[in-house]
Amino acid sequence: MKEIVLSGIRATGNLHLGNYYGALRNFVRMQDDPAYDNMFFVADLHALTTNPDPEQLHANVKNILAEYLAAGLDPEKSTIFIQSDVPEVSELYLLLNMHVGIGELMRTASFKDKARKALGIKSDSDDIEKEIIGTDSNKRVNAGLLTYPTLMAVDILIQKAHKVPVGKDQEQHLELTRRFARRFNSFYGVELFPEPQNFNFGANAVKVPGLDGSGKMGKSEGNCIYLIDDEKTLRKKVMRAVTDEGPKTPNQPVSQSVENIFTLMDLACAPDVVKHYRDAYADCSIRYGDMKKQLAEDLLKITLPIRERILDIQNDDAYLARAVKIGAERARERAAATLAEAREIMGIRKFY
Ligand code: TYM
Repeated sequence: MKEIVLSGIRATGNLHLGNYYGALRNFVRMQDDPAYDNMFFVADLHALTTNPDPEQLHANVKNILAEYLAAGLDPEKSTIFIQSDVPEVSELYLLLNMHVGIGELMRTASFKDKARKALGIKSDSDDIEKEIIGTDSNKRVNAGLLTYPTLMAVDILIQKAHKVPVGKDQEQHLELTRRFARRFNSFYGVELFPEPQNFNFGANAVKVPGLDGSGKMGKSEGNCIYLIDDEKTLRKKVMRAVTDEGPKTPNQPVSQSVENIFTLMDLACAPDVVKHYRDAYADCSIRYGDMKKQLAEDLLKITLPIRERILDIQNDDAYLARAVKIGAERARERAAATLAEAREIMGIRKFY
């Protein structure tokens, strides 16, 4: 029996290097491993939590799909689908929510972050719960945002997935998924859902840093390099990446902003190239301009071929449609079987 692999990316814009190194690159690698039965989807329902413009949402779904295919996902090898093409997910989401606590959802880090953004709160105060309950009605935190982890858990559990290749920022959501699976199984005394694990070929989960010296590369942080960026744009972004005034004494500690560049180099450059620059940092001979040029060069080797294919595939509506049609059929088949089991277990049974 092959292990089931499942992962998805929200349809909120173009894919950036965080998505690529945290997730998509692994999807492509897993696809060629006969040990895995792979399923990759575009999470359009999850994108609804920010109430996007309908035309924009649809365009974003199409973009991500084209980017999946351009990066190497192959509908002949993997099940590629759109989340909303599997309506069974929405029903199991309702059922599973009956076993999920409002408190545990409110304590989720990603919920607190997004709720703060929705309410325009800057502080890191943990009192976000009070703010949410006390808020006036034109700045809402919608219930879909709160129950985001339930929907993500259902994406995974409805396919009975074992492995979920995601970046570090999604680990708390995976932990919740395991907890919900255990809770459901033990409440009903069944073994319906396996407990899924993150997967990165034996390495730790990846956190791709931003170019602005801050923590994580993210769409809403405005610090991204996109797979679709053209050569000039990418070079400009890398050359403008935040650094510092350079090492003054041998072997001095590396500042956060420079460490971020090294982290990107670890992902994109050959190990001896990275070592060369780390050594140059240690003996104070480093020139950040050269280092950034090297990084831009190596990133372009990865992104430019993908960009070319995105531009081709984007306009091939027939290919896009075909890819997700077979994917939806396969994904629905497995989802319908799990949903039928869950309904039966919970006592939702038909009279006719
Ligand atoms: P999303 O759309 O925020 O991110 C998609 C994937 O990209 C990874 N990622 C990163 N990895 C490393 N460094 C970064 N800076 C970085 N930024 C993004 C994320 O870890 C993720 O793997 N909730 C999910 C989508 C989802 C899902 C699922 C995933 C919905 N249902 C079921 C797996 C299984 C999300 O928001 O991803």
